[in-house]
Amino acid sequence: MAEVVIVENAQAAGDLVADAILRLIGTKPDAVLGLATGSTPLPVYRALAERRGDTDLSRVSGFALDEYVGLPISHPESYRSVITREVVEPVGLTPERIHVPVGAEETIRHAGADYEAAINAAGGVDIQILGIGTDGHIGFNEPGSSFASLTRIKTLTRQTRADNARFFDSLDQVPTHSITQGLGTILRARHLVLLAFGAGKAKAIAEALEGPVSANMPASAIQLHPHVTVVIDEAAATELAHADYYRDSYENKPAWQTI
Ligand code: PGA
Repeated sequence: MAEVVIVENAQAAGDLVADAILRLIGTKPDAVLGLATGSTPLPVYRALAERRGDTDLSRVSGFALDEYVGLPISHPESYRSVITREVVEPVGLTPERIHVPVGAEETIRHAGADYEAAINAAGGVDIQILGIGTDGHIGFNEPGSSFASLTRIKTLTRQTRADNARFFDSLDQVPTHSITQGLGTILRARHLVLLAFGAGKAKAIAEALEGPVSANMPASAIQLHPHVTVVIDEAAATELAHADYYRDSYENKPAWQTI
């Protein structure tokens, strides 16, 4: 089962996950990170920038989960722009090693296969950071997504477009489509780290962790993966039936075990 770590706040989550990433890079300087966008992973990137010290990150590569289709990459809300601004620059990653799916309409027919090939050529993702949508999506795998899906184009739900409208001037500026790593792609990463903060995520977190494995709740795919860490705050933990068990497990964890 996933290890569930209930932390005091988002900063504590960021510190915990950043330390795990830095430990990985310490043993594997050419580690491959799976990068998520959205508000949730920002504390991880902030903590990475603060805590990296003189760690050599020059050989680290990264693969973003998703990108909007049809939004020019120069747009400030394209995920290429977001990843550059919020991850690559502050953390100090090598820009040439950071990949984002290409959402340009001219190449969209083969962009999914190209992205899968690039991930495979890099040796696969070591740590995949994930947020969760209020509708249970991970990446932009909306409810109904196949657990075997690979990187491809997806239509965004009305809920996701409404959730993301805060990054745009109005709802109709939010693209209708994305190109996203599939659930099958995500499940191939060696370690999944799912983060969620706030009461708005409590229901999706409870269903993903404790509900049935169902394509209707895409994040429930994490139940099929052998190495998952879920890091959430108290507000996101309120609907979990087994929160006390998770707390006991984490508090009594052998010192030699890391996340
Ligand atoms: P958020 O988005 O981190 O901005 O809440 C999460 C998601 O949609 O995956």
